[in-house]
Amino acid sequence: MSEALVIAPEHLARQAAEWLARALQDALSHQPRVSLALSGGSTPAPTYRALAGMTLPWARVDVYFVDERFVPPDHAQSNYRLVEDTLLRPLRLPPSQVFRMEGEREDREQAARDYEARLPAALDVVLLGMGEDGHTASLFPGSPALEERERRVLAVVGPKPPPWRMTLTLPVLHSARAVLGLVAGAGKQDAVRRVLAGDSALPAAHVSQAQWMMDPAAAGR
Ligand code: 6PG
Repeated sequence: MSEALVIAPEHLARQAAEWLARALQDALSHQPRVSLALSGGSTPAPTYRALAGMTLPWARVDVYFVDERFVPPDHAQSNYRLVEDTLLRPLRLPPSQVFRMEGEREDREQAARDYEARLPAALDVVLLGMGEDGHTASLFPGSPALEERERRVLAVVGPKPPPWRMTLTLPVLHSARAVLGLVAGAGKQDAVRRVLAGDSALPAAHVSQAQWMMDPAAAGR
């Protein structure tokens, strides 16, 4: 487990965006395209806005999602809508470079299988969040999805509303080449302490290669 980076709140979004930009550039130095998988929730929006302002060869970046709520893409709780508002629209990224989890579909299982078929063999750069219960993606404590070793995308029910979600599984997160975990707020400090201590009861602790970046409040300072 790498050491957490603790960043002043006013610098956290930009430092996280710069971390992601460096990881994307590193990958692009030895391959023609790069995959970037993004989480939703309330924490990452300022980071996505800062990333949208950075000069990168965006035409070579393919955007995927770590998880999605089973709601329409224009729904207030849609992760796609968050990313579209803060990153995709500002960058004018064409649909051909955006691989959306189809949260509007009735057949959740088929929607998950279809997304699985679109995933690259390994994701290059991933942004994760962490819930106060230590969940990440839509992998919640005690969920059978945490035991999944074959499927790469599952439809799951979680305790954080909206309940039905599509999520990448741990094998996909484990195979990702660069993972940034972004956490803010005092409410997360217990989960952060336990994840950094390697408490395997918390799903976020299973993403061992993640570089956790957080504000002092989340770090318990
Ligand atoms: C989601 C996110 C989820 C998020 C955590 C933290 O769909 O809710 O992908 O994994 O990262 O729940 O959420 P906050 O950033 O809102 O605290």
